[in-house]
Amino acid sequence: MNKFKLLFIASIIAIGCMTALVGSINEKKKEQELINSVPKVDKFETKNEEFRKHYPRQFDSWKKTGKQDDIHDMLKDYPELVVLWAGYSFAKDYNAPRGHLYAIEDNRNTLRTGGPVDGKTGPMPTACWTCKSPDVVRMMDKEGDMDYYTGKWAKYGSDIINPIGCVDCHNTETMELEVKRKFLGKALDEEGSLKMKDATHQDMRTLVCAQCHVEYYFDKIPNPKGGKAGVVTLPWSKGQSVEDMEEYYDEREFKDWTHKISKTPMLKAQHPGYEMWKTGAHGKNGVSCADCHMPYKQEGGIKYTDHKIGNPLDNMEQSCMNCHRVSEESLISNLALKKKRKDELHEKAMKQLASAHLEAGKAWELGANKEEMAPILKDIRHSQWRWDYAVASHASFFHAPEETLRVLGTSLEKAGNARIKLAKVLAKYGASDYVAPALTSKKVAQEITGLPFEKLVKEKKKFQKGLLIEWKKEAEKKGIYNPESTKDIEDKTSY
Ligand code: HEC
Ligand code: HEC
Ligand code: HEC
Ligand code: HEC
Repeated sequence: MNKFKLLFIASIIAIGCMTALVGSINEKKKEQELINSVPKVDKFETKNEEFRKHYPRQFDSWKKTGKQDDIHDMLKDYPELVVLWAGYSFAKDYNAPRGHLYAIEDNRNTLRTGGPVDGKTGPMPTACWTCKSPDVVRMMDKEGDMDYYTGKWAKYGSDIINPIGCVDCHNTETMELEVKRKFLGKALDEEGSLKMKDATHQDMRTLVCAQCHVEYYFDKIPNPKGGKAGVVTLPWSKGQSVEDMEEYYDEREFKDWTHKISKTPMLKAQHPGYEMWKTGAHGKNGVSCADCHMPYKQEGGIKYTDHKIGNPLDNMEQSCMNCHRVSEESLISNLALKKKRKDELHEKAMKQLASAHLEAGKAWELGANKEEMAPILKDIRHSQWRWDYAVASHASFFHAPEETLRVLGTSLEKAGNARIKLAKVLAKYGASDYVAPALTSKKVAQEITGLPFEKLVKEKKKFQKGLLIEWKKEAEKKGIYNPESTKDIEDKTSY
């Protein structure tokens, strides 16, 4: 009797467990089907939270990029940067990159974009929004390229409002990966080693990132309707190496700005991450950006792509250990050594360049002429371009260690050449004992270069309390912005 009772109870428990298991399998199956089926979302749905109901895991992991919220003031770490960029906006404010969720906040808060008082004021052109938001994709389509690229940055304050999201990388009707910025396809076709139409699925797992993590400049083209467009253009038609692009810019006599102290026609490298990655061990072996930065994740029976794009070392099990058999510790110490080697040359090049600019400033002051200075300025231009190319392509010390050190080596050589020539010019004008002032802090460097820091901060704060609030209200009225989506985002700045 007892035996039967026990058996009965055991059977009931077993059936209960089975039902629960089948239920949970069915639930997971349903979710997996939902992931595989493609609910239609509007082509230009830029409010990222609208995707949550269809793709909760992708959305929730994407949203976690908001946890990467540290502001790291690079000008404070390296006051030399203020001198290297004298006369250019980066000398005002420059932080290390952080999570994608902050792209819009940081663009609006940086002192570089100034304190516009209406849609027609402020220092920056519209092109400065281009790698920050899915709204850019919508606005480029609506306005057409020429009009999108014409006007001031503030023109789109209430139109470009959501941070980097689903529409930037996906065709929302099929959820296939898609390159949404035409300039990338055009540049790939011109360069020729990988034509856009030949891109495989594996290539796309890199190319969606290359829409933004590349070198570019604003090509000034007259708009037939009036004004000048600053069109985002990738300088790849001669190739993608640092020398190829340098030649491209030299041929056009292009300059991003004239250096305030040395009067050099300067180039600012953006972030040639894709070009650098191509030269490294992983790029050469077809390991894509997404392989490390967006590994697959298994949750119960569900396999999905982790959209928390950040530092892959936070998750080495998924990001590295599928391919590597050595221990995590040995990979980490290998990386630390690579970084140390890069930092050594990076800091040496930066110091040489800062001295070169200040010595050139002294030479001009003492009456040096254009003929004497021309070869010096050419060395400075090329040296700084190469230094910047190597360090602005973030984490290049890991993505492409040999190329990074090679490029920094040539930067040092050219800065050294400039300073040998400068020593002769300074001696000729009786200043052979000139020693450039020490750059002991960001504040000191900004004073030496005459940068009105307090004024810039005041203008920015006025903008944040005025026009910016209007932008958000207008965007909400247009139905393109949900204030709830930025509720947890704190305004962090370096000032
Ligand atoms: C920076 C580019 C990028 C952004 C932004 C992005 N994705 Fe993805 N997404 C990818 C990549 C890469 C994959 C992997 C595709 C593959 O290899 O098939 C992917 C895969 C997916 C898939 C296919 C299923 C899976 O998990 O692999 C879905 C669904 C998806 N993403 C939804 C979203 C949603 C929703 C958003 C916005 C909250 C978003 N993605 C934002 C790059 C992006
Ligand atoms: C629409 C342009 C755009 C696309 C597409 C894009 N990025 Fe970014 N990425 C940015 C910007 C802008 C930042 C800096 C954001 C900030 O600091 O506010 C950034 C920052 C990053 C960071 C630094 C994150 C941190 O926490 O420090 C990583 C890593 C990164 N991106 C990798 C990728 C990868 C990998 C892809 C492709 C899967 C990709 N990005 C696609 C524009 C883009
Ligand atoms: C083999 C793995 C791997 C591949 C492939 C890879 N990355 Fe990274 N990436 C890393 C690691 C690891 C770091 C962090 C290094 C560190 O700072 O310690 C990183 C850092 C970054 C950063 C942030 C640097 C910073 O300063 O915060 C960006 C941006 C980035 N990668 C973009 C890309 C892009 C774009 C691609 C493709 C063109 C790519 N990565 C390909 C592993 C990879
Ligand atoms: C999809 C496979 C794959 C993934 C994922 C991957 N690697 Fe690699 N890794 C490779 C291949 C292939 C090579 C080249 C091996 C060779 O040349 O013998 C390589 C080479 C390396 C090297 C030596 C090359 C050099 O540049 O010094 C290091 C270090 C390394 N990987 C670290 C990492 C780290 C850290 C991660 C995770 C963030 C990672 N890898 C993720 C496949 C991968």
